[in-house]
Amino acid sequence: MRLVMGKFATGVVVVTTVDKIGRPHFMTANSLTSVSLLPPLILISVGHERNSFKFLEETGRFGISILRSDQQAIALQSSQSEKNDCEGASVPYDLDSHSMPMISGCLGFLECLVENQHTYGDHSVFIGLVKKTKIYSGSPLLFFEGKWEEMAGD
Ligand SMILES: Cc1cc2nc3c(=O)[nH]c(=O)nc-3n(C[C@H](O)[C@H](O)[C@H](O)COP(=O)(O)O)c2cc1C
Repeated sequence: MRLVMGKFATGVVVVTTVDKIGRPHFMTANSLTSVSLLPPLILISVGHERNSFKFLEETGRFGISILRSDQQAIALQSSQSEKNDCEGASVPYDLDSHSMPMISGCLGFLECLVENQHTYGDHSVFIGLVKKTKIYSGSPLLFFEGKWEEMAGD
């Protein structure tokens, strides 16, 4: 299944959460799916072993930053399981007009409240109600067959 799903090219996002005392945390993900427009709902699937899973359950909110093609280093760093909050702090983010960290220079941002949570196997699907959006121009970082890619012509 893993090999077949690797043939499904996706964009790459960083899921931002905060811990109980408000420190930011970053996790690379490609399970983002749009679910509904009215109301605006998205979903992400998060492994139970992830630090982010705990923060999502504890705080009930998260941000989604859609990465740009030149943000591979951020994607790599946010996919490391051994990262800690100090390392996470070197990921560039801003909190200007929203309460969840947004990766600086991203293509788009969604600020969400957890609407519902469903457990399937070793992951839980979090349904997020979108409360704020931001959109910027640029081309996306892609993930295909376990490798970072860019759109042809970029
Ligand atoms: C391209 C890519 C996509 C990923 N997508 C997901 C995902 O959708 N859900 C998930 O739970 N982990 C996903 N991961 C794995 C997490 O990024 C990784 O386990 C990370 O270390 C989790 O961080 P945390 O435990 O600090 O929250 C993905 C990793 C990569 C490289």
